[in-house]
Amino acid sequence: MQGREAAIDGMTGNGERTAMGSANRLKLGLFGANCSSGRAVTLAPERWSGSWPDCLRLAQLADEAGIEFMLPIGRWKGYGGDTDYQGATLETVTWAAGLLAKTKRLNVFGTVHAPLIAPLIAAKQFVTADHIGEGRFGLNIVCGWNEGEFEMFGAALRDHETRYDYAQEWLDVIKLAWSPQDDFDFDGRFIKLKGVRAKPKPHGGTRPVIMNAGASRTGQAFAVRNCDALFSNVSNGISFDETAQHVKNVKALARQSGREIDVYTVGVVTCRSTTREAEEYYHHCIVANADWQAVDNILAMRGVTALTHPPDQFQRLRNHQANGMGGLPLIGDPDAVASRMAQLAGAGFTGIAISFVNYLDELLYFCGEVLPRLARLGLRQNP
Ligand SMILES: Cc1cc2nc3c(=O)[nH]c(=O)nc-3n(C[C@H](O)[C@H](O)[C@H](O)COP(=O)(O)O)c2cc1C
Repeated sequence: MQGREAAIDGMTGNGERTAMGSANRLKLGLFGANCSSGRAVTLAPERWSGSWPDCLRLAQLADEAGIEFMLPIGRWKGYGGDTDYQGATLETVTWAAGLLAKTKRLNVFGTVHAPLIAPLIAAKQFVTADHIGEGRFGLNIVCGWNEGEFEMFGAALRDHETRYDYAQEWLDVIKLAWSPQDDFDFDGRFIKLKGVRAKPKPHGGTRPVIMNAGASRTGQAFAVRNCDALFSNVSNGISFDETAQHVKNVKALARQSGREIDVYTVGVVTCRSTTREAEEYYHHCIVANADWQAVDNILAMRGVTALTHPPDQFQRLRNHQANGMGGLPLIGDPDAVASRMAQLAGAGFTGIAISFVNYLDELLYFCGEVLPRLARLGLRQNP
């Protein structure tokens, strides 16, 4: 058993992998580009297509600009509304494999619902993508929360704690399949396997970066135990000190069990040459032209309706959801956006996964104006 635990825990992602091949103090990624409308629940006609040609062009621009990673959303069923928000989505591991083949230094994650795919098929898909990207594939594990998606697979959504128990076994199998150990049996509570042989192993004798975005105590404990990175949402109402304390706590918990973990967050960027222009555009897309029916569908899945919440609180939650599904709004001119990002770095975050209403239209301006400011602040090198 000791040998097995060593095989599960021992094959850590090396420093180069967890740093995503970059010396930048603040890493940046693009979040949600594999889905129609990305993370903005808006009717604005320029909203993101999520098409393959647009994703490929975006990945190549990001690669040239030195953006460290792209993180897709594992979504199987759209949320309806006038836009069928996130109704068209590209499957994330095949998406990652395609983008890795066409880029040079960008890391690309697959976002995978552990209960919906047999672990040995998944392990081999990840290895294949990792070979295509010569060590630039990363894994985002999700346990699922959307019952309608699970029904599409004929799968039952387990209760919250048991979801993470299952994910633990699933990930143990993946790590064993990646390790040099061969011909192993696995006799878990949920997963039972015999004589497993899985070759090849991930690229270069190290394993892909593993992340998770658990928000609950159980979800975060899962990340601390198993992952290289935890993605945590920061809410506008939380103070800088509380945010910094959260990051410290997660890192301290990992160190107590002899591990290191990076903490990342999620930001929704509206950057224009003046703060007024940025605020007007934000208001236009996210308030005046939100796809409110889709917003209400998303909230209802989480039990939030006009009947369960007082009107002002309900509207606050709706506004929050329309904006990047609840990411931290980073709205303003390039100085304001760069200084807010610097604050997040100061709170201890290793990186930020950002989104735009239209990633392709907005990325060049962001890279031209915000990245040099982050370089001047000592947080990134100019590409
Ligand atoms: C950055 C980030 C990415 C996430 N990606 C997905 C996803 O692609 N698919 C999904 O079903 N859930 C996704 N989630 C939801 C989380 O996996 C998780 O279920 C949620 O944060 C609730 O945490 P809990 O499971 O600890 O209760 C994401 C959350 C965050 C913050």
